Amino acid sequence: MNSKLEILILAAGKGTRMRSDLPKVLHKLAGKPLLGHVVDTAHALGAAQTCVVYGFGGEAVPQAMADDKLTFVLQAEQHGTGHAVKQALPKLADDSVTLVLYGDVPLTHVSTLEPLVTAARAGKLGLLTVTLAHPDGYGRIVRENGSVTRIVEHKDASPAERAIQEVNTGILAVATRHLRQWIDTLKNDNAQGEYYLTDIIALGVRDGVTVETHQPAFEWEVLGVNSKAQLAELERIHQNEIAQALLNEGVTLYDPARLDVRGALTCGRDVVIDVNCVFEGRVELGDGVQVGANCVLRNVTVAAGTRIDAFTLIDDARIGEANRLGPFSRIRPGTTLARDVHVGNFVEIKNSQIDDGSKVNHLSYVGDTTMGKRVNIGAGTITCNYDGAYKHRTIIEDEVFVGSDTQLIAPVTVGKGATLGAGTTLSKDAPAGELTLSRAKQLTVSGWVRPVKQKKEN
Ligand code: UD1
Ligand code: CA
Repeated sequence: MNSKLEILILAAGKGTRMRSDLPKVLHKLAGKPLLGHVVDTAHALGAAQTCVVYGFGGEAVPQAMADDKLTFVLQAEQHGTGHAVKQALPKLADDSVTLVLYGDVPLTHVSTLEPLVTAARAGKLGLLTVTLAHPDGYGRIVRENGSVTRIVEHKDASPAERAIQEVNTGILAVATRHLRQWIDTLKNDNAQGEYYLTDIIALGVRDGVTVETHQPAFEWEVLGVNSKAQLAELERIHQNEIAQALLNEGVTLYDPARLDVRGALTCGRDVVIDVNCVFEGRVELGDGVQVGANCVLRNVTVAAGTRIDAFTLIDDARIGEANRLGPFSRIRPGTTLARDVHVGNFVEIKNSQIDDGSKVNHLSYVGDTTMGKRVNIGAGTITCNYDGAYKHRTIIEDEVFVGSDTQLIAPVTVGKGATLGAGTTLSKDAPAGELTLSRAKQLTVSGWVRPVKQKKEN
């Protein structure tokens, strides 16, 4: 049977170059903390335990990750990667294998890590290396007759060693039992006065453990984030990966370079997405959905055949089939739109349910409203849902016609088939089937003369 996998995520570093009070691993990539990406990878690998070594920023890291089933270990002072691993060793089981990951290296594919775990389970030391055109700063992989013998840190390396282009990514897997033995004997007699995790390679070789190296399919899988520039670079790489996956599923993206997915976007067949759209949280787009340019959708489901025109913002809502929204619509939390609903430009809808075939096409605010089928709301209509202390509901039954520039002072009900005349301020219920209006009678003053400015004499 396979020995169980335990994953150690090193995340104690300060990240000085981020120039931020937020611990580095909590900076967000695609809307999720860097550490969150690594934790997801750990879960995907089926880790029996995932242990996070944290330090800088104190409890901010455990607090931010509180939802996950993680073990946290404090490394109060950072004395190197070997020292970091040592803090976590008491939490790890002797009969497991340990995979070491880094909280600031977010984009490593699961398939890149699996061979390392397999090597560790076979009693070897699995080491992820990468060959770089510019290896400056990294630990170098020293080989003799093709076999790895040790890693030398850049600061400790001779000119000949600095010419080596194969570098250490830091990611490795090995039997926990071995790790414990070697970590205990690490010394800090090096250029940085640190306990180097990398020194275990030479100790492994001394103990007859085979070092098996693997390389990632893409160099960016092992890139870490040390600055905002690197964070922005990885964000684009990650967004491009997401865009390519959507294209492969058959989604039309007018420009895959101008798409941002910060969460999970699932699309049906023949979905079309114009440029500069942002999708946050869980967004589901049904078959044939079209999203115009510059839309933001956050935690939204959109059913088949709906068209969302440019500059529309939808937040926490359920949008039914064959709707037309936008341009410039704002749909706020708690809204449900049924079938064939039209919401037009400069219309705000909040916490409302709108039934089949109803239309709110121009310049309106509909809040805390239950609206029936085939209702027509005229331009400039406003539900006055807030009395300064409480919110009240407006009920508009089927087939109501609301004239333009109407205010509905909630709580109020408009009965089935009623018509409200333009300009009405409705403060009492309107009966079904009747015309209700509140409007001063129109009158004409005949012979009235408009004032004229007198010319000054001289
Ligand atoms: C390390 C490796 C180097 C490798 C490079 C890849 C060592 C000694 N060197 O170097 O061979 O090429 O990564 O990027 O391992 N950390 C802690 N506690 C500590 C020190 C570090 O949690 O006391 C964490 C950091 O937050 C960071 C990671 O470990 O996520 C790497 O630390 P860093 O100081 O960046 O290591 P490097 O010197 O870059
Ligand atoms: Ca580093």
